Amino acid sequence: MKFSVSSFVFKSLTSTLARNSIRKMSSYGSSAGSRIAGKTVLITGASAGIGEATAYELAEASGGDIRLILSARRVENLSKISKDLEAKYPKVKVLPLALDVSKYKEIPQWVKDIPQEWSNVDVLINNA
Ligand SMILES: NC(=O)c1ccc[n+]([C@@H]2O[C@H](COP(=O)([O-])OP(=O)(O)OC[C@H]3O[C@@H](n4cnc5c(N)ncnc54)[C@H](OP(=O)(O)O)[C@@H]3O)[C@@H](O)[C@H]2O)c1
Repeated sequence: MKFSVSSFVFKSLTSTLARNSIRKMSSYGSSAGSRIAGKTVLITGASAGIGEATAYELAEASGGDIRLILSARRVENLSKISKDLEAKYPKVKVLPLALDVSKYKEIPQWVKDIPQEWSNVDVLINNA
């Protein structure tokens, strides 16, 4: 992990109140946006709320140049969000993956099962 997770989480929390406007404009500055560009980011709890908003925020901030692993229990929500992100940001790559973080004994195997081309995660946003 090369990035500080806390700054991303903090910015996500502070932008919750403006959740409806997140999809229109990123609150990240241009230098933060350029640092996140080209990275692979894993977000837990990405099917709703802050996790979902963070996915949109990062897609916008990176100018669409980002790879997002979106995880949560509701895969149908993740698939819908993935399709929407890829439609809005044609360069964005999204991998929706079912994960229940309460089943923590299963997490090491879940990590091993991440497809090889996605396994080099730069940032973890452990929101769930
Ligand atoms: N909203 C706030 O003002 C606020 C303030 C401080 C802290 N927080 C914390 O920030 C986090 C997110 O809040 P939120 O308002 O965005 O909540 P939310 O709208 O209820 O979303 C929670 C997300 O976490 C996922 N999730 C819940 N249980 C899970 C599990 N066992 N395994 C995997 N994913 C799980 C849900 O997806 P699935 O149901 O599909 O799994 C959903 O995507 C929470 O931990 C909350 O306590 C929120």
